[in-house]
Amino acid sequence: MADIMRVEWSKDLVIGIQEIDDQHRQIVDYINLLIDSRGNDDRKVTEEVISELIAYTVSHFGFEESLMEKAEYAYISPHKRIHRLFEKRVREYADRFVNGEDVAEELIEMLHRWLITHIRSEDKDYGALVISSLDANPERERFLKKSFGRFFGDRGKGA
Ligand SMILES: [Fe+2]
Repeated sequence: MADIMRVEWSKDLVIGIQEIDDQHRQIVDYINLLIDSRGNDDRKVTEEVISELIAYTVSHFGFEESLMEKAEYAYISPHKRIHRLFEKRVREYADRFVNGEDVAEELIEMLHRWLITHIRSEDKDYGALVISSLDANPERERFLKKSFGRFFGDRGKGA
């Protein structure tokens, strides 16, 4: 089993929106959980981590997109396309894993490279606009709560 470095949270991953940063941190935790689960003889454990990671990330993407939409971010369409493409690719890996293929390491590498790069570039790009849109929103808390509920349901809170 190859040695894979855990993902370290670092300042350059911070967007400056608490909710988004917390969710990104949670995704990093899931990637690390996946890295740690590789040695487990029971593939079900890894399978479970992969499916939770996907569900959480899909919820996060939805939440993020609702903030970009509210802020009328100009590049929301390409950003959404990137999210959908990512979901598709990660689901393909998950299916291959469930079918018994040994793709955990490839998946981890893809998640690491892809997600972290995405946060550092595309997510950073909407940061300033979404921050000012939230600051200008008199119903900021209500909006965030509603959006959270819409995409995460009662899952993810406190995660
Ligand atoms: Fe994103």
